[in-house]
Amino acid sequence: MQTITALETLRSAVDELRASGRIALVPTMGALHEGHLTLIREAAKVADHVAASIFVNPRQFGPNEDLDAYPRQLAEDSAKLEAEGVTLLWAPDVEAMYPQGYATNVSVSGVSSGLCGGDRPGHFDGVATVVCKLFNQVRPDMALFGEKDWQQLSVIRRMARDLDLVLPHADSILGVPTVREADGLAMSSRNAYLTPEQREAAGTLPRAMQEAIARIVDGQEVRPTLAMLEDALLGAGFASVDYAELRDADSIDLLDSDNGNARLFVAARIGGTRLIDNMAVIGT
Ligand code: PAF
Repeated sequence: MQTITALETLRSAVDELRASGRIALVPTMGALHEGHLTLIREAAKVADHVAASIFVNPRQFGPNEDLDAYPRQLAEDSAKLEAEGVTLLWAPDVEAMYPQGYATNVSVSGVSSGLCGGDRPGHFDGVATVVCKLFNQVRPDMALFGEKDWQQLSVIRRMARDLDLVLPHADSILGVPTVREADGLAMSSRNAYLTPEQREAAGTLPRAMQEAIARIVDGQEVRPTLAMLEDALLGAGFASVDYAELRDADSIDLLDSDNGNARLFVAARIGGTRLIDNMAVIGT
């Protein structure tokens, strides 16, 4: 695996790789877990070469968020990527990504409003900006993202469509189902912040979501069902619930009843850690 930190080196390495096949990009912020490694394995199935990026993107963190605390473990992450057969690791520093005088922002409206877009102002501008840059830098044939960040995936697809991105175009931005721990908790780099007690309580999140989905599929009213979900989380030790909402999976429009294409989205805080999850509203 070639680890690259300078854009000129990346461009020539990518030119060489492109000559011998298709490139799939897996963009990450590092602190890699099984969820990321699943993205890498899926990427290897659809392309000849897998490129990964590791960049903790300051533009997608709010002023009071965990940018400084965010785990950085490049050596450990590199070893994991190498073991998965990744060909190229793009790991620029902040100066390489946003050189002195950098002044451009990519802002996607519509799908970025509400949910995390409402709670984290500027977050999706930061994501769209860095992902647009990563696409232009690596010029992959396809890119893979986890469905755990469903709204992020929608924002990136919208951006690719709206900006007429050729590589990768919207249809080659692939979502990969959320990878979960044994108790159902969605894997996330932020799970590392949880104390053992908080970690145990965190398992209530997917369970309470599944119960809410079963009720909705059963025809029960959405609003009281979501209120029960919030109560279950607060009762289990969550400090607050940022949102628990039913939305259309494609438009991300708010729903007050199941329209056949609904997803349940939740963000809740346990201690100082904000956990998010989303699930399709379908019967089991
Ligand atoms: O999902 C993430 O890890 C980040 O938001 C991404 C897509 C790598 C952009 O920084």
